[in-house]
Amino acid sequence: MRSIFRDFTYDYFGILSYPKERWFDFWTSYREKHPRVLEEYMFKNNLDEEELSLSLDKLERREIDRLSHYWEIQGPIEKSRVLKELGKMSPQLHLEREDFVIHILGALGRQQHLIVPTSRGNVVMIDLLFCWKEGSIKDFSSVILAALKDFLEYSRVNVRHTMDSGKRSERFDLILDVIEREIKGRSFKEKMAMISKLLDKYVDYYNWTGFYLVNEERSLVLGPYVGEPTEHVKIAFGSGICGQAAETKKVFLVPDVSKENNYLSCSSKTKAEIVLPLIVDGKVIGELDIDSHLQNSFDRLDEEFLEKVCGLLIES
Ligand code: SME
Repeated sequence: MRSIFRDFTYDYFGILSYPKERWFDFWTSYREKHPRVLEEYMFKNNLDEEELSLSLDKLERREIDRLSHYWEIQGPIEKSRVLKELGKMSPQLHLEREDFVIHILGALGRQQHLIVPTSRGNVVMIDLLFCWKEGSIKDFSSVILAALKDFLEYSRVNVRHTMDSGKRSERFDLILDVIEREIKGRSFKEKMAMISKLLDKYVDYYNWTGFYLVNEERSLVLGPYVGEPTEHVKIAFGSGICGQAAETKKVFLVPDVSKENNYLSCSSKTKAEIVLPLIVDGKVIGELDIDSHLQNSFDRLDEEFLEKVCGLLIES
C-alpha cells in the first residue's frame, strides 16, 4: 500500500495566530497552500466570498484552540493507530487499486469528509473541525474507514465526461443500483433530496441537480436541490426550459443554453441543461432539472439514465 495519509492540520491551526477580524486573510493564504482541495471545498459548499466570511465569523476561536491542543497530543497516536488498521484491512478493501491520498485538514466544520477528484489523483479530505464538533474524533479510525468506503464506492461508480460511452453506460447502471438502495423506505421529499445528492456526487459534469414540483396554481416550485442557490424558485408553465418541459410533457435536452431564447439563467457558469418531466397518470407532477458547466455535455445516455432515475422516484 502506498503512503496514503497526510496531515495538514498544522497549516489550519495557523488561524489561531490571526485576530478574528483577519480570518478571511488567513483563509486566503490557507487556500494558496492547498489550492486543489480548498477550491473544490469552496465549490462543493457553494461558498462565495460573502458566505465564506459569514461562516468564518461563526467559527469559535476557543473551539479551534481546544482542538489544536487535543490534536497535538492525540494526533500522532490516532494516526499510527489508523495506519496499523489500514494495513490490516488493505487486502480486503483493495486499497492498492486506487490512486488516492487522504488529507487531514481543518475547514469550516460542514462535513466529515469530501472526495475531491483532481487531475493528479483523488483526495479524500477530512475536516478535523467537523470530527471534533461531532465527537467522532474520539473514534478517528472509524472516520477514516467511513471516508475510505465512501471513496471506494465513488471510484466504482463515478461517471466522468471523458469516459467512453460503454463505460458511462456501465457506470450509470451502477448508480441506478445505488439510488434504488438509498431511496428505499424514504418519503418522496427525502427521495428527491437523496437523488439530487447522489447525482451531484457521482457524475462530474452534473453541476446543479434538483427538482421542481407543480403546485395548485400550475406553477413549478423549487424542491430539493444541490448546487448554487437559484432565484427561480417559482416558474410558470411555458416559461424557461423548465416551464416548456412541463407544458409539453417532453424531455428538454439543451446542449448550449446561450442559443435559447426562452431560457431562465440560474448561473453564468451553466452551459447546458436537461429537464425531465415527472409524469404520473398522464399529469406532470414535477421535474428533474440538471445543469452542466460543460457545453454539449448531455447525450442520449444521460437522457436514458435520468428517465430511469425519474422512474425509480415515481414508482418506488
Ligand atoms: N434554467 C431553467 C431555470 C431553472 S435553473 O436552471 C435551476 C430554465 O430555463 O427553466
